[in-house]
Amino acid sequence: MKLERITLENFRQYFSKQRLEFSRDPQKNVTVINGVNGAGKTSMFLAINWCLYGKSVENVKVIDNVGELMSKEAVRRSAPTELIRTMVEITFQHNGSRYMVRRSIQGIKQDVNMVSLYEPDEFIMMEIRPDGQAKKVDNPVGTMNAILSVNVREYFLFDGEKIDNFAKPESARQVKDAIYLVLKLEILERARRHLESLAQEYRRELKGLSSGELRKLIDKDEKLRNEIERHGDRKVEIEQQIELAKRKINEIEQKLRSSPNVNSLQQQRDRLEYDLKLRQGELDELIIRIRDFAANAYFIICRPAIDQAISILESKRIKGEIPSNIRQQFIKDLLDQMTCICGRPVNDGSPEHQKLLGLLTSSLPAVLEDDVLDTSALLKSFGEQIKVRQSNLDVTMKQKISIDDVIKSLRAELDDVGRQLKGSPQEEIQGLENQRQNFLADIESYKMEIGSITTKVDQLEKEISKLENEIAKARKEEKQAILVAEKFDLAQRSADAIANMYQTFADDMREKIKVKTREIFKCLIWKESHFKDIELGPDYNLEVIDRYGLQARPELSAGERQVLSLSFITAMSRVSEEEAPLVMDTPFGRLSSKHRNSITEYLPRLADQLILFVTDEELRDQARENLTPRIGAEYYLVFNPDTSCTSIEEVKK
Ligand SMILES: Nc1ncnc2c1ncn2[C@@H]1O[C@H](COP(=O)(O)OP(=O)(O)O)[C@@H](O)[C@H]1O
Ligand SMILES: [Mg+2]
Repeated sequence: MKLERITLENFRQYFSKQRLEFSRDPQKNVTVINGVNGAGKTSMFLAINWCLYGKSVENVKVIDNVGELMSKEAVRRSAPTELIRTMVEITFQHNGSRYMVRRSIQGIKQDVNMVSLYEPDEFIMMEIRPDGQAKKVDNPVGTMNAILSVNVREYFLFDGEKIDNFAKPESARQVKDAIYLVLKLEILERARRHLESLAQEYRRELKGLSSGELRKLIDKDEKLRNEIERHGDRKVEIEQQIELAKRKINEIEQKLRSSPNVNSLQQQRDRLEYDLKLRQGELDELIIRIRDFAANAYFIICRPAIDQAISILESKRIKGEIPSNIRQQFIKDLLDQMTCICGRPVNDGSPEHQKLLGLLTSSLPAVLEDDVLDTSALLKSFGEQIKVRQSNLDVTMKQKISIDDVIKSLRAELDDVGRQLKGSPQEEIQGLENQRQNFLADIESYKMEIGSITTKVDQLEKEISKLENEIAKARKEEKQAILVAEKFDLAQRSADAIANMYQTFADDMREKIKVKTREIFKCLIWKESHFKDIELGPDYNLEVIDRYGLQARPELSAGERQVLSLSFITAMSRVSEEEAPLVMDTPFGRLSSKHRNSITEYLPRLADQLILFVTDEELRDQARENLTPRIGAEYYLVFNPDTSCTSIEEVKK
């Protein structure tokens, strides 16, 4: 940032418009603005600050306790209700572009010297292109802050009154803040804090995600699958038992068949069983058919409704409200030919003729007639179908009942055969039949067990499929957890790395500033042989070491403190590489000539652009001589006691 020009309008003692150009010549980079006490040096210094930042930016106070900014003379001269404007405009260069910023505030004069202001003030920034065209900058406050942050403002635009601030024993905090702000350590710190809080967020998210849920679900799934396998094994076992029992029964029956006393009984049983098997097959078929009927059972429910509909249509037809099954066209044809379908002629005026005419008038229009006829035909055929179905069902049911009866009697006969065998006087036969019946009972209970296993397996399979959905969901979450864990790791490691970098960078910067401050201090202080060294330790205490190797800061004179502070500030502006002018309001006030001389000799070399507000007392003799070859522009602030206004007068060379 290099200042080009400032224009003040009705700002404090600058009544009406006043303008001043700063020197931008790199060889003659100093602008001197002279003024006696009260002439307007601090007022112009304030004007620069106010124009760039306003009274405050983001809670940083820029201008405090300085009274009214609007020119009292301007207020005095205006008529009541007249609009008065206070304005400061600065043109500057930055990074190859030119900018113009203007801050203004307006007020209405109330009565004698009282103004009501229109707050807030207005701030605009224009970017001026090389062709002279100006473009309004959309975010002027943000852009200004990016060019020279309000936080570092006071290290570049500084007030000579407060110049020894950094050199006081209690100001380590201020030194640290200054380094932190000017050297943009703040950006690193902000990045670290951001990453740290990000890592914390991920950690929290991770806690919520990895509940071990997936592990539990997989365990459960495994258990269920094992259970199904166990059931499967048992089923195979049972089936083998059934086969075995069946074989045993066959063997027994074979023995009975070949035993001379009971062979006829066993043969009877064989026949009965064969019969029973056939009947059982028939019964199964019937049951399937009955099920089919049942699936279409609606006809049983709608039968009464259809009957009723048919009877309604019938009664209407009899009353002649709807056509009989005779179409209008048919009657018309008969009337045209005046002949009956049997060939007999129909005579005009005869009862037959009258009847035909009657039917013609009572018949409906052709379309409706068709519909009515179709509907009654449909209902009738439907009614017929229902009748057929119902009678089929009745027949099938009867068949079932009769087969049931046959099966029952076959079973009774079989039981009887069994009882006869069991009651056989031959013990061997008794034993065989007993065994046979036991095997049969076993088969029955095995079959029941298979049934219960099948139901259980069905149930388990349902549970597994539900579980599998849950597992898929948990897997997805686990994947997410892995991702979050990676993000967490990355954020934490980045934060640690930045913290490390921050420390290294801060230490490095502190070292650089220390070296530069020492170098400048040595140039500026006239007792350079007395002060041997400058220290700036990790505690950010700015220390001066004297020739005895002792800390000398507490005993520094006010002037020496000012020199130390100035050395630190200029060192910082050098190290920061921030391109900004050094604007100093009354910097030498409390310095003796020896220090003024050294400062005026070195300072122009340390800054790109140096703007000094001075009293004639501050800048004379050797100090002025030192500065003269570097002065590119010089002004006098001339205060007029008659008007209490200041005018700016350029010193012509
Ligand atoms: N609103 C104002 N209108 C007119 N003059 C003002 C106003 N505010 C301050 N002043 C004048 O400014 C003077 C202080 O000027 P200042 O710039 O601080 O002097 P210095 O050149 O010593 O730094 C005051 O004495 C007062 O006369
Ligand atoms: Mg002043």
